[in-house]
Amino acid sequence: MDQALTGLKGGVGKTTVAVNLAVLRASQGRDVLLVDGDEQGTASLFSQLRAENMGEPGYTAVSLQGAAVRTQVRQLKAKYGDIIIDVGGRDTGSLRAALTVADALLVPVQPRSFDVWALDQVAALVAEAREINPELRAMAFLNAADAQGPDNADAQKALAEVPGIEALASVLVRRKAYPNAAAQGRAVSEMKPRDPKAIEELGALADIAFR
Ligand SMILES: Nc1ncnc2c1ncn2[C@@H]1O[C@H](COP(=O)(O)OP(=O)(O)O)[C@@H](O)[C@H]1O
Ligand SMILES: [Mg+2]
Repeated sequence: MDQALTGLKGGVGKTTVAVNLAVLRASQGRDVLLVDGDEQGTASLFSQLRAENMGEPGYTAVSLQGAAVRTQVRQLKAKYGDIIIDVGGRDTGSLRAALTVADALLVPVQPRSFDVWALDQVAALVAEAREINPELRAMAFLNAADAQGPDNADAQKALAEVPGIEALASVLVRRKAYPNAAAQGRAVSEMKPRDPKAIEELGALADIAFR
């Protein structure tokens, strides 16, 4: 199952979710390829840090840009159980290439910075990609959400109105565990003390995203 992550916005949690999903799936025995398709290279930095702190990342990490995302992922599909592609927050060749080969697209959205315009752009790209890749699933979910309060419900409602993109019920709440773990090249599931809620939320997201 191949997943691409995007949002057409920076700082919404694409890389955070991509690396946590990579570690989670690897820990479940899957052979995982993490593709850093963002020229900013945050996922690659995470993998480097991880290799330094833990010996080896537990998954294979590569950095690919532009059309190479499509050609390489196509070639490597048979070799890996899961391919997770972290694409940047802009409309790039890498993003378009990823959309032509991925089974699914995951779009994190932050409720506070909710930007329907950006999501409409994603929806337009998804519609275009489906002409080549008709089976492409597109899912949006709230990330860095408040633990409670009315903002989540409002944002969920707006998510549900975006055409061609499935609004997921699973929500990742804003939790310190994410930046704390990333600073060590770790996933939230590898942190002590454990943050059971972060682990549970991420597991729920993975179950839906990889179903
Ligand atoms: N659920 C979350 N809770 C707390 N912090 C988060 C969460 N998701 C992302 N962050 C933080 O937000 C910042 C941007 O996340 P990042 O994954 O790099 O975004 P993107 O890849 O979309 O630019 C990072 O500092 C990250 O640790
Ligand atoms: Mg990123």
